[in-house]
Amino acid sequence: MSSLSPLPADTTAPSATSSGTATGTEAIRLQLRSWPEVDSYLERCRAVIVPLGSTEQHGPTGAIGTDALTAEAVALEVGRRSGVLVTPVQAFGMAEHHLGFPGTISLQPATLLAVMHDLVLSLARHGFERIYVINGHGGNIATTRAAFAQAHGTAASRGLANASSLRCRLANWFMAPEAMALARELYGEREGHHATPSEIAITLQLEPSLQSKQRPLPEPAPAGPIHGPDDFRRRHPDGRMGSDPFLASAEHGARFLDVAATALCRDLAAFLEEPA
Ligand code: NI
Repeated sequence: MSSLSPLPADTTAPSATSSGTATGTEAIRLQLRSWPEVDSYLERCRAVIVPLGSTEQHGPTGAIGTDALTAEAVALEVGRRSGVLVTPVQAFGMAEHHLGFPGTISLQPATLLAVMHDLVLSLARHGFERIYVINGHGGNIATTRAAFAQAHGTAASRGLANASSLRCRLANWFMAPEAMALARELYGEREGHHATPSEIAITLQLEPSLQSKQRPLPEPAPAGPIHGPDDFRRRHPDGRMGSDPFLASAEHGARFLDVAATALCRDLAAFLEEPA
């Protein structure tokens, strides 16, 4: 078995109720493993999945934790299917533009850059060489890419044995072609750009209590450029950008989880096959 081959995958059918607590994900959750178990995992596989979310407003009916819940759920499903270990979710992201709404907790770009850099370096130090970040928030993309660039530099300057074979990849589940196609099919233009029915659907599937928040909402403000938190709130008074989250359902959420996990499993497999 190659050093990058994942553990034998769970070959059972994807669970419609897959979540952080679903049966079948225990074996791939890093936080439930002991260090000797991680040590022996590394003898067979050098890959790890890092879910990255955000803690920010998602309109008047969406959960503050939407981006962290969705990233973690997709990551656990990809881990369950592939056998690749999944770290705890990094639940705080770059959400400066949502700070006009209570409940939002943001890391400044430089802070998130430092956090992602340190996560990669910690993992690389112990031999992980394929760091696959599953992201649930568009605001994290630029900073995470910058963190990868910095991590490569640091790995080399610290003289890490695997510095030259370290690879990092960012996978945004909501930009997977299958997930975007499903959103178009179900919601058309009403998908919008923030507090979207697709992400809300996954949270309804994971956490049935959220269904009680769902109600019809007035016409949303359209998406457009934003210039900081005060400008965001002025342009988007209820926090939505062109979306109608009332269209979401738990049944849709199960479908989004399935198509996102399928797309990212394929992407992860390609990533693992890339030569060092
Ligand atoms: Ni979101």
